[in-house]
Amino acid sequence: MLAIIGGSGLTQLSSLEIKRREVIRTPYGEPSGALTFGMLCDTPVVFLARHGYGHTIPPHQVNYRANLWALKEAKATEVVSVASVGGIRADFGPGVLVVPDQIIDYTWGRKSTYFEGTEEPVHHIDFTEPYDTRLRQRLLAAAAAAGQHAFDGGVYAATQGPRLETAAEVNRMERDGADLVGMTGMPEAALARELGLPYAALNVVANHAAGRSSSEHSIHFDSIEAVLQDAMIRVRCVLEQLCKV
Ligand code: HPA
Repeated sequence: MLAIIGGSGLTQLSSLEIKRREVIRTPYGEPSGALTFGMLCDTPVVFLARHGYGHTIPPHQVNYRANLWALKEAKATEVVSVASVGGIRADFGPGVLVVPDQIIDYTWGRKSTYFEGTEEPVHHIDFTEPYDTRLRQRLLAAAAAAGQHAFDGGVYAATQGPRLETAAEVNRMERDGADLVGMTGMPEAALARELGLPYAALNVVANHAAGRSSSEHSIHFDSIEAVLQDAMIRVRCVLEQLCKV
């Protein structure tokens, strides 16, 4: 069963034919909300709003461990993350869809592993390719089938937030090789790998990253919201196709 974690702008899936909601408790505390089970184009899907259904949980306080654990418990076999990002690369402007292929993690202080405590033997997951190759290819095929262009590849910089970056921080990330910046991609991707869940992301560029817009010197949330509203319509079309490919 496909799990979809929705980020800013995607707190629900309108085309999801909802069957039931279930609150799942985990050894790691509460997930962001109840899991929503339903059918998307005749395929069973489980949906979770990363920031809670009222969008009240900031990126650094999302209980990523509980979220992934609950999805696994609910028999999810693969996870697609939808998340908005700032575009660092010049051609990653507002509204662009990206299926990233790499991650640089700048987050700190987040609970980022299931392997802790003295009882557990230490386990080092392989994370050379942080996203599942097959699921990425399916996402790209779904985008093509939906008639939506999605960039194949990009280096995702995961920042702590909740504040946006300084212009110098974005310059540094670019020198590091990052193409897009967001606040929720880690530790989510690593935790999915620890649980053996294939994981891929569909990122929606909401704005040019700090200092990267030629027209404006600050990032306005009003314009971000308008971009996201339009883009999430296209994201929903891609997700509907994903159930078919
Ligand atoms: N930076 C970090 N996260 C984001 C941004 C950004 O510019 N836009 C949307 N999420």
